[in-house]
Amino acid sequence: MEQTINTKIVYTPTEDDLISAADLLRTGGLVAIPTETVYGLGVNALLSEAAPKVYAAKGRPSDNPLIIHLADAADAERYAITCDAFDRLATAFMPGPLTVILPKRDCIPDSVTGGLATVAVRVPSHPIAHRLIELCGFPVAAPSANLSGRPSTTTVEHVIEDMKGRVDMILDGGASDIGLESTIVLPKEDGSLVLLRPGAITVEMLEEEGFTVTLDKAVTARLQEGEQPLAPGMKYRHYAPRARVILLSGERESVQAAMEPYRDRADTALICYADDTVADASNARVLGAFERRDEQARNLFDLLRSFDSQTEITRIYAPLPDRKGIGLALFNRMLKAAGYDIEEV
Ligand code: TXA
Ligand code: MG
Repeated sequence: MEQTINTKIVYTPTEDDLISAADLLRTGGLVAIPTETVYGLGVNALLSEAAPKVYAAKGRPSDNPLIIHLADAADAERYAITCDAFDRLATAFMPGPLTVILPKRDCIPDSVTGGLATVAVRVPSHPIAHRLIELCGFPVAAPSANLSGRPSTTTVEHVIEDMKGRVDMILDGGASDIGLESTIVLPKEDGSLVLLRPGAITVEMLEEEGFTVTLDKAVTARLQEGEQPLAPGMKYRHYAPRARVILLSGERESVQAAMEPYRDRADTALICYADDTVADASNARVLGAFERRDEQARNLFDLLRSFDSQTEITRIYAPLPDRKGIGLALFNRMLKAAGYDIEEV
């Protein structure tokens, strides 16, 4: 490991611990923070020299902008130019797993936004994240707290695995409630939204609030050479375990039938739903109940990470999720984990 920092790990942080964490952030330190979506790797968003430390700790390309996290949506106006769509989104969904792209104000350094004229704004609902940001009194820039290319971290054990020795402090806040990163939207001039990354605030929920939503192409398809996603981070290889992931597309029965020949094989893992016919195989890994997409979302990254320590597995079969509700977010993360490798069955 190129950098070794003495990392303080704090289990069930107290108010005093959060005050220490806020002091660290104020002076440019790196603190891993639990949120309701995934763990974040926080720095002071107003210090231009802080963001490069995050990129270094993650091994992340520095053209990939960071989300700034606020204690209250009403603070957004200080750091970004808000709009009517933002106010409506804030009323409906903040605090919560939604990130909104807005034109940035000058106080947000270019190192945070990767040189873009816009900034991503989110108000997390996790009580530890919320209290910490409130104590800071400045926005906290935070990407997901994983090494670049690995699945995001949803437990303190994942964070320790990826970040120990690379950050000043890790705050434990239990397993992330949602398990997938926030929904990202870009409001357009006409008040409609472009969905840059699907998450727990679903297209259906946004439409219910009266928004017209279009999907950035990168959400559902591999981009061609030269095409740019609206969220720069969507272009990177992500979430992929070392083993090859193959998504099976078809009726639930056909998918199970396609997996049966690989039952109990040591070189193959089968990601399946509870009650699938293959669920009792020794190489099956249950993602969750078939209709419980929330449960599947919560388990996905932990499952994908677990394969990296099982070196005998070279191939992973998984069902292609449908796109209903948070299913679209599962679909998007699975596609990336599989490098868009889909087999029709
Ligand atoms: O749930 C989450 O959003 C977590 C927690 C920690 O809040 N954070 C997270 O951050 O997922 P990160 O850095 O892993 O992903 C941020 C995504 C990237 O795809 C990035 O390209 C995009 O947001 N993004 C950030 N600023 C942007 C901007 N100004 N315009 C377009 N996309 C932006
Ligand atoms: Mg990330």
